[in-house]
Amino acid sequence: MLWRPWRRLYSSRSWGAFACDTSPALDHRHQIPTAPYDSSPLAGTVSRSEAHLILHPAQYARPPTSWPSHVESACALLSELASRTKPHGSLDGFRVNLSSGDDASLPTADAWDPRRSAAMRAPPNHQQEDEQYWMYAYAMPGRLVKWPEPVSLRTLPSGPELRASLQALWQKAEDQHETHIYVCTHGMRDCRCGVAGPALYDALKEAVEKHDTQCRFEGTQPARQIRVWPISHVGGHKFAACALVYPHGDWYGNLRVSDAPLLVRAALAPPSSRHDLDDLRERLVLWPRWRGRLAMSEAEQRDHMDTWGPPIVHTAHITPQRRAGPSSRDTPHLLPLRFHSHDGQWYDVDGEEGESLMQVARRYDLPGIEATCGGELECATCHAYVCDAQRDDPQARGMIHEAPSWSAHEVSQEEDDMLEYAPFRQASSRLTCQVRVTRALSDWMIQRGGRVELNRY
Ligand code: FES
Repeated sequence: MLWRPWRRLYSSRSWGAFACDTSPALDHRHQIPTAPYDSSPLAGTVSRSEAHLILHPAQYARPPTSWPSHVESACALLSELASRTKPHGSLDGFRVNLSSGDDASLPTADAWDPRRSAAMRAPPNHQQEDEQYWMYAYAMPGRLVKWPEPVSLRTLPSGPELRASLQALWQKAEDQHETHIYVCTHGMRDCRCGVAGPALYDALKEAVEKHDTQCRFEGTQPARQIRVWPISHVGGHKFAACALVYPHGDWYGNLRVSDAPLLVRAALAPPSSRHDLDDLRERLVLWPRWRGRLAMSEAEQRDHMDTWGPPIVHTAHITPQRRAGPSSRDTPHLLPLRFHSHDGQWYDVDGEEGESLMQVARRYDLPGIEATCGGELECATCHAYVCDAQRDDPQARGMIHEAPSWSAHEVSQEEDDMLEYAPFRQASSRLTCQVRVTRALSDWMIQRGGRVELNRY
C-alpha cells in the first residue's frame, strides 16, 4: 500500500467538517448530482486576468475546511496582494488566491475560524504579518515561476517591484515539466464547492497516483509531474466542481469524479499551443468541461472553443426516426444501426460495413463520442456501452451492467487497458473506435434490441 501524505491532512473524512448546510449540493439520494448544478454554457465564463499568483503555506498547515468565506480576512499577505490587484492598483490585471498545499511536514497551526466576518482584518503588527508563504506565479503562454524564497507581509516587495521581477522571471522561464491542478474546495464560500470539490480532489489524487504507478510499472518517466492542490474561491461556484490546470492556464467546471482521468490526461499535455493539426495541447483539452483560459477575454474564450473544441451537436439535424428503409437495406454495404443517448433520444443511422461505430457516431454528430485521438486507442473518449435492451422495457436504457449477447468482437488487451481510463466502465463498455460495423451487429440491433448506449459527457 502506497503512503499517501495528502490523506493525513485532507482525507475525505476531514472534508466533511464544513459548517454549512450541504443540502443544496446534493440530490434527493444525498449524492453529488451527475448533472451540472447549472446548465448555462461553460465556455467564456472566466473573467480575464493577465496572471495568477497562488500562495502556498511555508510555515503552518491549515486545512481548507477552516478557510473563512473571505479568506483575506484571516491571511494578511493575501489581503495585501488582493488589494493591489484592484483596478488601478500596482498589480491590476493579476488574480490572487490561497492554496493549502499538501506539505505534510508542516506543523499544523491553530485553524482559522471559518465563520470569521468578511470585513475583519488582522490588526497592525499582528503575528500574521510574519507568516510565510511560497508564491507560485502563472502567466501565458505556459509560464510557471516559483518566487525564490518564502514571503510574508513584512518581506513582500512593493507592487511595481514585484510586477517587474515576475515579468523578468516569466520571460526566461522554461517548461519545468510540472503541472499543477488546483481544485476549488472552498466550502465556506459555497457549499457546492465544499462538496463536489473534495470529491474531485480525491479522485484526481487517485488518478495521478494510478498514472504514476503505471509509468513505474512500465519503467517510463511520466510526461509531466502532476500536483493536485485545493484552492480558495476562484469564481463560478454554480459550475462546481471547478479546477484550474496550470501552467496551461485552462479553467474547467461542472467536473465530476468520473472526469478525473480525462483531466489528468489534459494535465499531461504540453503547456503551450502550436496551433497546428498535431497540437497535442489543444487536442487533449477536456472541451466539454472547459470554461476558459488565463489571459483570454470571455469573447476570445468562446471563439477559441469554436475553433478548437469539438463540433456542437445539433440534435435537430438528426432524425430520431429509423432510417432503415428499403433503400438502405437493399444497399449491400450500408447497415442500419441504433444508438440511444443518455437523455433518451434514439438515433437510427446507417453504417458502412467495416467502418467503426465511432466513425458512424462522428459522421452523425452523435452526443457523447468525442474520439479525441481519432481512433488511435489513446484517449477513451469514444467510450460507450454496446448492450442488450432491458427485457421488460426495450425503450429504457439498456443493460449496461451485463456483457451483451452479441459478442462477435473480442476486447483486445490494448482496448481493455485503455478502457481503464473510461469513466463508469461497465461489463458492456467498449471503445467504439474498436468495434466494426458488421451485418451480425446490425441484425442484433435491429431484430433483438441491441444498441449503443451513449454517455452523457
Ligand atoms: S477514439 Fe480514442 S480511444 Fe477510441
